[in-house]
Amino acid sequence: MCGIVAYIGEKNAYPILIKGLQRLEYRGYDSAGVALLNGKLNIYKRKGKVSDLIDFVGENNVDGTIGIGHTRWATHGKPDDVNAHPHISGNGRLTLIHNGIIENYALIKKALEVEGHTFNTETDTEVLVHLIEEIQTREKLTLEEAVRVALTKVVGAYAIVVLDKEDPNKLVAARKASPLVIGIDENGFLLASDATPIIEHTKKVVYLNDEEIATVRRDGTFEIRTIGANEIQTPFIHELEMQIERLEKGGYDYFMLKEIHEQPTTIQDAMRGRLNAVDSWIKLGGIEENLEKFKDAERLIIVACGTSWHSGLIAEYIFEDLARIPVEVEYASEFRYRNPVITDKDVVIAISQSGETADTLAALELAKQKGAMIYGIVNVVGSSIARLTDAGSYIHAGPEIGVASTKAFTGQVTLLTLMALSIAQKRGTISESYFKKLTQEMEQIPHKVARVLEKCNTQIEYISGEIKNANNALYLGRGYSFPVALEGALKLKEISYIHAEGYPAAEMKHGPIALIDENMPVIVIATNQSAYEKIVSNVQEVKARQGMVIAIVTEGEKEISKLADYSIEIPETEEPLTPLLSVIPMQLLSYHIAVMRGCNVDQPRNLAKSVTVE
Ligand code: M6R
Repeated sequence: MCGIVAYIGEKNAYPILIKGLQRLEYRGYDSAGVALLNGKLNIYKRKGKVSDLIDFVGENNVDGTIGIGHTRWATHGKPDDVNAHPHISGNGRLTLIHNGIIENYALIKKALEVEGHTFNTETDTEVLVHLIEEIQTREKLTLEEAVRVALTKVVGAYAIVVLDKEDPNKLVAARKASPLVIGIDENGFLLASDATPIIEHTKKVVYLNDEEIATVRRDGTFEIRTIGANEIQTPFIHELEMQIERLEKGGYDYFMLKEIHEQPTTIQDAMRGRLNAVDSWIKLGGIEENLEKFKDAERLIIVACGTSWHSGLIAEYIFEDLARIPVEVEYASEFRYRNPVITDKDVVIAISQSGETADTLAALELAKQKGAMIYGIVNVVGSSIARLTDAGSYIHAGPEIGVASTKAFTGQVTLLTLMALSIAQKRGTISESYFKKLTQEMEQIPHKVARVLEKCNTQIEYISGEIKNANNALYLGRGYSFPVALEGALKLKEISYIHAEGYPAAEMKHGPIALIDENMPVIVIATNQSAYEKIVSNVQEVKARQGMVIAIVTEGEKEISKLADYSIEIPETEEPLTPLLSVIPMQLLSYHIAVMRGCNVDQPRNLAKSVTVE
């Protein structure tokens, strides 16, 4: 995690760095810092958010047209002023920002201590900047060469930018397993963990690849080499399509609320040009080009983390139900270390909003080595997963900035549903009439999501007030609603800090039922068409133990509504599509509860949006 940003050019660096850090704050927000060079090197760093850094800098000297900045999610060393980046080398010449982890830092540190280096922080990053300094001075190398040699000695993940006090005309950057984008402006260069700090300056970017080192110069020239010292002759310059308004709150109090309300549009965007219900077709580039692989797949293995893993679980139900392909859904962090059986008849699908999640990336690399075709369902264009996969589809949800994932989840589920339908049609495992019905219904989903947002918000806000002081909550669902229960519980936990568990409703009687009393809100997703009577019984079981039931039901439903303390009605749809509607009340409930409890909805404690460390 951590966000890094750097600038060299004709403009004042400080405002560019600060704005960039604010955009990158979703990646980590326990401390922030900048280093600016203008004859003298000024470094300002502070525990807390970027706003704390701004207050700390105050009226101090922020001159300089070259600088680097960092917003941190602590891995090595507690979040405080000292451990905040940038870090400085022993002789005070080099300053460095880093996103990632240097795994062998302890060994390197010991060796450097023998050479006389002393360290002021507990970080792995300080060790790296000392190592570069040691190599630069001992071997009398240029900065880029010293960085290159140092990185051959390092094990781990990094995106770094190094500033040399004695050379104000260049910055050196490198990456391995942590993202780094170079923006090419008319008057200079911006380097950042993603394109969001760059977009308002230029649309021209180069995505640095793993084990590449870039040197950008004040005179507008740049070059990229590999760690093996080979020059990349013509780096590919991408044209960004991102819209700047999508990076602002647009009148909402929080990004999360904005993103919840964007869902009618983002679901539509995920389907745009890919679905035609009238003529009964679905076309997804990545699927069409690899049709035989998908048709003949003996197994789909889905790897993901967090909310994206929940989308994967929904996909398991849909793919098995409609396309009749066995599916396994794996936590990427477990999959990568347990010597899984993978063959070239498997298709491995990675789901990731950021496209940078370290565990998901590593799981994919493993699957690729073992010969499986790897497919990506990703939001961030040009991200590492998008570039690693053999094929894939973007969900086109636009930047998701709230740490709690909302529109990315519905985008993923939309796309996975289209994939399952398309493959089912091609495999002949779905009747044409059911295919048509489902595609017609898919086209209605954006309107139905809009209706849920419009109709249910006030009621959900009221219910939130009733349960905001609970210490625990239970989420139950069966079939397609079970992953939605997991997602509802995760949303509540991460932004309101209320302990919550998601369970298959029928599993309740195997343990969790012991927890139920009048203080336990039980959120039941009861939109099932199949097994409806069974979910009615589950609600009765909760009520018999005085639990407070908040039921999500289909409009017009009577039986559960009579039993429940509160029932939230959502429009009827085909059962495989219900998660796209039933998750919306889950998102609103956790949002309102978090606001009422005074939590920072967009930046919950201890979390970061993009988990680029193990
Ligand atoms: O970017 P990814 O989809 O790979 O991220 C995976 C998880 O870190 C992410 O979904 C996390 O669980 C969210 N904070 C959930 O809201």
